[in-house]
Amino acid sequence: MKAMAIEEFGGADKLKEMDLPKPVPQENEVLIKITHAGVNPVDWKIREGYLQEMLPHAFPLILGWDASGVVESVGANIEKYKAGDNVYAYCRKASVQHGCYAEYIAVDEEALALAPGKISLAEAAGIPLAGLTAWQSLFDFGELKEGQTVLIHAGAGGVGSLAIQFAKVHGAKVYTTASAKNREYVESLGADHIIDYTQENFVEVIQKAEPNGVDVVYDTVGSTTQEESFALVKKGGALVSIVDPPSEEKGQELGIKVGFVFVTPNAKQLQEITDLINKEKVRPVSVQTMNLSEASQALTLNQERHVRGKIILEVS
Ligand SMILES: NC(=O)c1ccc[n+]([C@@H]2O[C@H](COP(=O)([O-])OP(=O)(O)OC[C@H]3O[C@@H](n4cnc5c(N)ncnc54)[C@H](OP(=O)(O)O)[C@@H]3O)[C@@H](O)[C@H]2O)c1
Repeated sequence: MKAMAIEEFGGADKLKEMDLPKPVPQENEVLIKITHAGVNPVDWKIREGYLQEMLPHAFPLILGWDASGVVESVGANIEKYKAGDNVYAYCRKASVQHGCYAEYIAVDEEALALAPGKISLAEAAGIPLAGLTAWQSLFDFGELKEGQTVLIHAGAGGVGSLAIQFAKVHGAKVYTTASAKNREYVESLGADHIIDYTQENFVEVIQKAEPNGVDVVYDTVGSTTQEESFALVKKGGALVSIVDPPSEEKGQELGIKVGFVFVTPNAKQLQEITDLINKEKVRPVSVQTMNLSEASQALTLNQERHVRGKIILEVS
């Protein structure tokens, strides 16, 4: 099958089109004929070798953790899915090698859900990784509740676009950071207050609007953005990052819960997200499509960190 893979870690030139074996589904797996693969920052982080100490891996390594497509066949123990079903999945496996920048992937059914009927398969491919990340950060770690306030950094990004909508569905008040060109976009997702981080100091804006701080800060940017965000969390609140582990010591000093979330596949939560999309309470993020063979250019664009929503690779 056609796949975009690397044989060693490095820059954009390491990602090449290869002809690799079509996977065979194990008894708890579903073989997906991929129509679309979502591009995530983790893909270029893996390509560069930044995560090689953290995640077991093997070459040739097919990049990509987000897929949508059609079930081709199922393993012996699978009852819930059948050939022809439209599905989507966050496809991370125990070892990084068989990703979804390819024509096929075999995925454990615990990572999978039927794709939402109301959106295209291209849009579906932008949901699983970012959606599960936002869900696990805001609700499992942040314990965000109705009536609370949250500051979501980078609201126009893949994760931010879904985090804003999930927080609103849960009845929270949402502050988000975005540049002027994304103002209307994040507003359309439901953000209550938009801070143009390129023109305004987000710390001053929040301190003025919420003198006691917000209940949850969602850090999707890291470094100084995270450092400056500690001061904005209400005592007893939470600072959750998906980029850099925040200082536990500083969290204790301030009386706030701090932590780093690394998203895990979760079919039950993906189903909850699917239900919200099917009920039109959550809509897909903005998508821009490119061809699978342009994966290297797509990663370079993603690496520049100003894509609105997601880039989606068209596979078939
Ligand atoms: N730990 C995990 O499990 C996990 C899971 C998913 C993602 N992540 C990480 O989380 C980060 C975000 O992921 P993503 O997929 O959402 O990224 P993304 O879609 O590539 O983010 C791009 C967006 O970030 C905005 N942005 C860039 N710099 C900003 C800043 N200083 N302040 C506010 N907004 C800014 C841009 O908006 P403007 O153009 O308006 O600036 C753009 O829309 C990445 O580092 C990724 O690796 C971690």
